[in-house]
Amino acid sequence: MTDRVFAVVGLFSSAQALMDAIPKVRARTLGTVEAYTPYPIHGIEDALGLRRSPLGGMVMVAGVLGAATALFFQWWMSAVDYPIVVGGKALFSWQAFVPIMFELTVLFATFTAGLGMLLLLNRLPFFSHPVLASKAIAGITRDKFALAIEADGGALDVDAASAALRAAGAADLEVLPVAVAQPPALNELSRSVMGIAISCLVAGYVMYWLIKLFPVLPPMVHMQEQPRLDVYKASELFKDGHGMQLPVAGTVARGYLPYLIESPEQAAALVNPLPRTSEVLQKGRTVWNNRCGVCHGALGNGVPTLTAAYGAKPANLQAQTFREYPDGKIYHVIMVGKNAMPSYAADLTDDERWAVVHYLRVLQRAQNAKDEDLK
Ligand code: HEC
Repeated sequence: MTDRVFAVVGLFSSAQALMDAIPKVRARTLGTVEAYTPYPIHGIEDALGLRRSPLGGMVMVAGVLGAATALFFQWWMSAVDYPIVVGGKALFSWQAFVPIMFELTVLFATFTAGLGMLLLLNRLPFFSHPVLASKAIAGITRDKFALAIEADGGALDVDAASAALRAAGAADLEVLPVAVAQPPALNELSRSVMGIAISCLVAGYVMYWLIKLFPVLPPMVHMQEQPRLDVYKASELFKDGHGMQLPVAGTVARGYLPYLIESPEQAAALVNPLPRTSEVLQKGRTVWNNRCGVCHGALGNGVPTLTAAYGAKPANLQAQTFREYPDGKIYHVIMVGKNAMPSYAADLTDDERWAVVHYLRVLQRAQNAKDEDLK
């Protein structure tokens, strides 16, 4: 049985001879023309008519994808899913995302470059190339330049190929059979895997103890000895000697306006900004029932659902005084509290505060309905 032919190879003794032969052999169009040389030769890819590698494009796409992925992840985490204001900065502070974007760009790009080259373009795992089993390989890895006509798809016309190579000046012609792929024996494979695993373990273990035993080798020493502020520690940096400092006077938390009104009289001028729609009243009712009703009663008449142990007496908000109370004064009590009534500034949003003021008006009017209300 004759082996299937992979290629006919011929050797040249100089790069120039090889380059001169390439166009002559290619002109015969007998098969794929491939060169094997001891070192890269300028211009050979043009002579062989090789296309530009698509790897650059693949890496470009992967890099952009990496940057976009990092940007998307960080935007999603810090502006959508778990928004936390840090140092008063906007939630989507893209400048802070750049390092991770850079890292994912590099990560995606290098993995694509490495794996794309090895697996896609070089078609690994590829255990044995026919040329590696040839006699010519000894010359190719030293000082000879080989030109091969390889069968592309169909059968190769060995005689025509040999004649073409010889005509172009090749010597030491050789016919290479198709290599039968031979995966490495299992024990060889498992031995390499074991070797890599043991090396990793040993390297990791040595690194672990190195860092554990010598954590402050220079230049790390300087980082540990630098002047810095430790929580609860004294500090010479500030006049009062404390490491921890209150925010600068006048600091305003993002999303909260300071409440500067000091007295109920001042608050009386405030105007309820919400319209009296049923939606707003529904919201006010929810707040009332959840927050205020326990003390002031479901109807606002000052009958609490609390035991006498509570001690204080919640105001009867159905009383004349409170029916004539301006909205702003009620709002003020919710903001700052009064005696036994705690402040609800932190528990309710501004809309909820004004909505419950509207709802209190509804309760008052319902309990003090006049004849005109029926019309
Ligand atoms: C823990 C019980 C408690 C809760 C809950 C409570 N209050 Fe009060 N509230 C009181 C007490 C006690 C007073 C009487 C304070 C005083 O005059 O000493 C009072 C007084 C008031 C007054 C009269 C203030 C004044 O100027 O005399 C208003 C208005 C008021 N509450 C509204 C509300 C609203 C609205 C809510 C729900 C957001 C609420 N309260 C939740 C206990 C409570």
